[in-house]
Amino acid sequence: KDVNKLVFVSNRLPFTIVKRKGSFHLQPSAGGLATGLSSFYKAYQAIWVGWSGVAKEKIKGSEREKFEKRLKAENCYPVFLSQSDIENFYHGFCNKTIWPLFHYFPLYTVHSKRLWEAYKRVNEIFCDEVAKVAQEDDIIWIHDYHLMLLPQFLRDRFPEATIAFFLHIPFPSFEIFRLLPWRREILRGLLGADLIGFHTYDYVRHFLESASSLIGCEHSFGHITAENRVIRVDAFPMGIDYQRFARAAKNPKVKQEIQRIRHIVKTRNMVLSVDRLDYTKGIPQRLEAFDLFLEKNPKYKEKITLVLVAVPSRTNVEQYKLLKAELDELVGKINGKHGTIGWIPVWYLYRCLSFTSLVALYNIADVALITPLRDGMNLIAKEFIASKMDDRGVLILSEMAGAAKELGEAIIINPNNKERIVNALKEALEMKEEEQIERNKIMRRRLQRYNVVRWANDFMDRLSYVKKIQQELL
Ligand code: G6P
Repeated sequence: KDVNKLVFVSNRLPFTIVKRKGSFHLQPSAGGLATGLSSFYKAYQAIWVGWSGVAKEKIKGSEREKFEKRLKAENCYPVFLSQSDIENFYHGFCNKTIWPLFHYFPLYTVHSKRLWEAYKRVNEIFCDEVAKVAQEDDIIWIHDYHLMLLPQFLRDRFPEATIAFFLHIPFPSFEIFRLLPWRREILRGLLGADLIGFHTYDYVRHFLESASSLIGCEHSFGHITAENRVIRVDAFPMGIDYQRFARAAKNPKVKQEIQRIRHIVKTRNMVLSVDRLDYTKGIPQRLEAFDLFLEKNPKYKEKITLVLVAVPSRTNVEQYKLLKAELDELVGKINGKHGTIGWIPVWYLYRCLSFTSLVALYNIADVALITPLRDGMNLIAKEFIASKMDDRGVLILSEMAGAAKELGEAIIINPNNKERIVNALKEALEMKEEEQIERNKIMRRRLQRYNVVRWANDFMDRLSYVKKIQQELL
């Protein structure tokens, strides 16, 4: 065991084991957390503990060892969960209870004691796994909503440890959070950390209000005192690996892909939309707005293409299945209604794209249409802007995304206001080039400065500062 290392803990590792054509493969994980963190955890020489992605009944013996070895070479330590824990914890409490509730979908939220028990059990399993690779003087950084009990579980085992937590999704307002039967347990779990981070100040405010209303934690200037420990709560808006996107267009492979797609798109305007297929992303609303846009602006017919990339996600959860069916139908309806022999209005890609194809699309797109109903941050918006080498292109962004707080030069819309999205699309397509450049330059500079490394450094600095205050108060 090394001394003073950094241990990341999250449900997902940057790689997931998946079964394809009868055999197992390692695949890069999708979503903000994995893509955001994976580019720099190596620079920190961190080790990463997380779920393997596959049930332990399915992968055994030498095959499991083979993957453990491959992952270890990447400093990753996989946790293997049983089929029933995956069902009740991951598909269950994480994605049928916390995810919908924290994204303001109380009607999609399932409250079940069985799922809650699994959540506790799996957080214990993670605690055991972390204890195998970490020691008390390490820095343990836990990520996201799957592991909100872990800070306190680890604190019980390692009272002196340095433990930090970051939530990658919104923390909802008190009136929503209080609906959860296990709200106090969740708060106490989180308060096992020394530092609790969120993407925005609104989420910080919501958390502090819940902590004071529900368990009487007093706070002043972002400090909570609980069980004789000072805990810091603060906002750290996550950045991206700016250079990776800014430089991408110089890569010969990307250049080739840009040419290939340009040749197919020709002179048409391209509107781009990229998300995991998730009901929080407002994809049907976006499609309906595009439909209305074509109705109201017939001169754009045959002159515009909406590229809709939906990355498969949580396909075992009922709400995701329903949404998939809804989208398939809606895309068909719009293409049938407006399409002509030579023109398909919506290009619908239900798959995960390679980095090369993704940045090629970012580069070509005239407009990025990102309209989540609720989103902790949304790194796609940032990636799009960072990829714009020539500063041209317009970002339309929902005010319900955490990223809107930092990207005020985008066209900011309310995703429930279809007419507003229609107008925003028109405004974006007709915006003068000088204005596009002016807006994007400001945003790019900001993203370059506050990139993902800076984000992690700030977080780490704040963590050592809290530790210092705790020492002084002893
Ligand atoms: C969001 C969450 C991440 C999660 C990702 C992908 O970004 O904040 O924690 O990993 O979605 O979802 P999945 O269920 O595939 O891990």
